[in-house]
Amino acid sequence: MRKPIIAGNWKLHKTISEARELVQQLQESVADVSDCEIIVAPVFTALASLASTVAGSKIQLAAQNCHPATSGAFTGEVSAALLKDAGCSYVIVGHSERRQLFGETDDFINAKVKAVLAAGMQVIFCVGETLEERDSGAMFDVLARQVREGLRGLDNDAMRHVIIAYEPVWAIGTGQVASVDQAQDAHVFIRGLLAGFFDKCVEEQTRILYGGSVKPDNVDGLMAQGDIDGALVGGASLKAEDFIRIVRFTRQ
Ligand code: 13P
Repeated sequence: MRKPIIAGNWKLHKTISEARELVQQLQESVADVSDCEIIVAPVFTALASLASTVAGSKIQLAAQNCHPATSGAFTGEVSAALLKDAGCSYVIVGHSERRQLFGETDDFINAKVKAVLAAGMQVIFCVGETLEERDSGAMFDVLARQVREGLRGLDNDAMRHVIIAYEPVWAIGTGQVASVDQAQDAHVFIRGLLAGFFDKCVEEQTRILYGGSVKPDNVDGLMAQGDIDGALVGGASLKAEDFIRIVRFTRQ
């Protein structure tokens, strides 16, 4: 019922020509994959060029961030509508690196979520606790706040265009993947939160991706969990061979 998604977040890596080369390698190897959505999120400057490269293929484009305003005096920012114009179908919003390094608040992230939806794209909305929050027992409160505030004001219909990514901060770029039980427990908790805010069908249909040190050797175990609907992959999405193996996770 929930079609899996494997998304590669390339972060601040790859020139336009490197990005094109990687996408071309991926395209050939995933041409037969139809039971999983495949997304890559390159840097802004590569988006428009990659849009023509991926046209007609199985690969779709995401941006890594956007500004909530449609236009105006916001030097250095990019609006959701401009990302759609560049060929994006998805925008990642609320990544922990944006929250931590750039001080993004729940309110600001909520405005971005709404801007992406208003522009007619899908949101990959990220949440996740730090190690300190997990160790101090605050994890579930933190996740509840992030989900409640980030999705504030959305209705059931809007939620059809929202994908949630659970990315525990301590697992990002560390090689320390969450155990399958830790990931599944967090996903069940997040899905339960949706039940409190929306109709039952939103709880059942919203896809929740796991992110944080997903690799070829751990993806199968994660994807075997009932509430893990895909992966948001950082480091391992930069190498064609690894990302292809992740897209080809073992179906149950
Ligand atoms: P890594 O897969 O490198 O841990 O990054 C995860 C991530 O932040 C994806 O958005």
